[in-house]
Amino acid sequence: MTESNTVTYEIENAVATITLNRPHKRNAMSPMLHIEMTEVLEKLRYEKTSRVIVITGAGNSFCAGMDLKQFFVELQDNPPEFDRIFRLATDWRYRTLRYYPKPVIAMINGYCFGGAFSIVEGSDLAFAAKEATFGLSEINFKHYPGGSVSKSLANIMRPREAMFYAMTGRPFNGERAAEIGFVNAAYPLADLKKEVMAIAQEIAAKDPDALTACKEGYRYSLEMTSDAAINYAAAKSDQLTLRQNGSWRDEGIGDFLQGKYRPGLGGHEKASS
Ligand code: COA
Repeated sequence: MTESNTVTYEIENAVATITLNRPHKRNAMSPMLHIEMTEVLEKLRYEKTSRVIVITGAGNSFCAGMDLKQFFVELQDNPPEFDRIFRLATDWRYRTLRYYPKPVIAMINGYCFGGAFSIVEGSDLAFAAKEATFGLSEINFKHYPGGSVSKSLANIMRPREAMFYAMTGRPFNGERAAEIGFVNAAYPLADLKKEVMAIAQEIAAKDPDALTACKEGYRYSLEMTSDAAINYAAAKSDQLTLRQNGSWRDEGIGDFLQGKYRPGLGGHEKASS
């Protein structure tokens, strides 16, 4: 029987927590997990009550990378199915998360290997348990960071660390991941959820259209020349005005000018408190 419920989600206080749910396999990404994750992300994309996405893993693992058995071994004689799953696997981590309209936070609660680095990189923010174990373990089984992983390393890690960890396969912990900038910060595992949810709530209180613009302005400009990026930013600002019905100018700036709050010291919600 094909395994299902490999990805679950729950929404609480405007934050949708997506859980990779194969704890018995350390949340290794099976073909079904890629299919279900694609469906869940599509569902939450237009869901109205959630404003921020948090991705984490069930049990003691965040994600042990690709399911080496179900993906590399069992699909080796089925090139079309290998290609289909490869496409889904790459798309959700490398494209969907990157350009997702809602902010995405990776909450790395334990093992994080190989292909899971692309989840972390595709997410806008990442926080780890100090006790978590990271590793580019591919070299240890005579392979290399394939799929989207090499590009993820090039995007987010400094060259020396990317090559060091890719060539040695040495594991490192959450504290080290924070030190090298692979994650924003590391907390003791016991505090991880509380800390991440506080950050998620802080972001969820911001204007959702402004958050999308914030994300798109950064992500797309990476691919553009400076002139194109500045032109795009001007158009993006007009799009934001349209989406918000002008509230950034009328309320955001207007309430500051009336002395109701100071944007330098906190969000617009303070204007009414
Ligand atoms: N693919 C497929 N199955 C995996 C897996 C993966 N990436 N990672 C773990 N599993 C499976 C194991 O085969 C085992 O299955 P079984 O119970 O049917 O034998 C189960 O998950 C538990 O793994 P186990 O190794 O017993 O757990 P552990 O807690 O002692 O070690 C890891 C956990 C993650 C350190 C270890 O499983 C490991 O090294 N996995 C491979 C990680 C990797 O190289 N990932 C990169 C892929 S791109």
